[in-house]
Amino acid sequence: MNREIDLRSQRKDEHVRHALNQNIDGIDSDFNHVHFVHHSIPSFNMEEVDLSTRIGPLEISQPLYINAMTGGSEWTRTINGKLAEVANATGVPMAVGSMHVALKHPELADSFTIVRSRNPNGLIFANVGADVSLEGAERAIEMIDADALQIHINAPQELIMPEGDRNFNIWRSNIENIVQHVKVPVIVKEVGFGMSRETLQILKDIGVKYADVSGRGGTNFASIENTRRENKDMDYLKNWGLSTAISLLEAESFVDDMSILASGGVRTPLDAMKCLALGAKAVGMSRTMLEKVEYNGVESAIEYIHQFRRQMDKISVMINAKSMEEITRSSIVFSPEILSWQKQRSLH
Ligand code: FNR
Repeated sequence: MNREIDLRSQRKDEHVRHALNQNIDGIDSDFNHVHFVHHSIPSFNMEEVDLSTRIGPLEISQPLYINAMTGGSEWTRTINGKLAEVANATGVPMAVGSMHVALKHPELADSFTIVRSRNPNGLIFANVGADVSLEGAERAIEMIDADALQIHINAPQELIMPEGDRNFNIWRSNIENIVQHVKVPVIVKEVGFGMSRETLQILKDIGVKYADVSGRGGTNFASIENTRRENKDMDYLKNWGLSTAISLLEAESFVDDMSILASGGVRTPLDAMKCLALGAKAVGMSRTMLEKVEYNGVESAIEYIHQFRRQMDKISVMINAKSMEEITRSSIVFSPEILSWQKQRSLH
């Protein structure tokens, strides 16, 4: 293996290791500042709950997906294999991590193609950065026979990494070009810094129909990139970004024109239900699923998803909303901090 491949594979392993080591339990999640109104007399039985949803042409029986993480090294190949087995058994869509490493070094492709071989009929999302060429995006889709393409936008992460990208002015036209030409839905996603109304407006203007706001509150790449080096000179940015709950408020006026997806710090079925109530069509989890497959194994991760799903049904009963549409219309109350953000940004 040459040195460049070595370094790239090492970076993939470091991201996984640091993500697993990150202690997110103590973080005050903004989901705690969003409250459902309890209903004491439900009007339907639990078996009537139907949370099937769609991301454009993609029909999914449950509003959950395993979000982008990894690939590009031996270790991350085994992780992708395990996540694909979970996706295969549960029917949840799954995204792979950034595929640039395999576009540049085709000998590493099997750490991504393993997800298709272990989940031949499932919904799989390819993943590239916003600087990828159209030809690169098409190859990434083809490599894993992807049903959708995620384009990640991760400016803070690049800027914090000494070796990161410093050129961003092509992102917008590049994304536009890819959206116009590829044959699968293109989901533009953040990586844990959230999306503002201004960002979503740009995405809408360039024809993007699917956006994953991936907000602050879970995996924190400002911290991960600082932890990866001795000189943690930008550690003060660890609270940078918009939380997932706030991002969904920012996205409120876009839900009729775009499919909004939510991820970032989703830890419980209640968090996921709050995302749906705030307009998300589906909810993604990365770190939680990584932890499950690495620490508890595939069977346990499968059971975790089944339980997660059943508990979402139970919460549906408690809020008296049995479909995605009814959940979106359910009553929500915000704590003062969120309300203040909403007022100052004139969002409603
Ligand atoms: C990520 N994430 C990510 N996103 C992306 O679009 N491409 C990528 O290559 C990666 N790589 C990656 C590695 C690891 C180890 C983790 C944990 C995450 C970001 C991910 O998709 C998601 O946006 C954030 O992690 C927030 O979700 P969670 O982890 O809080 O559920």
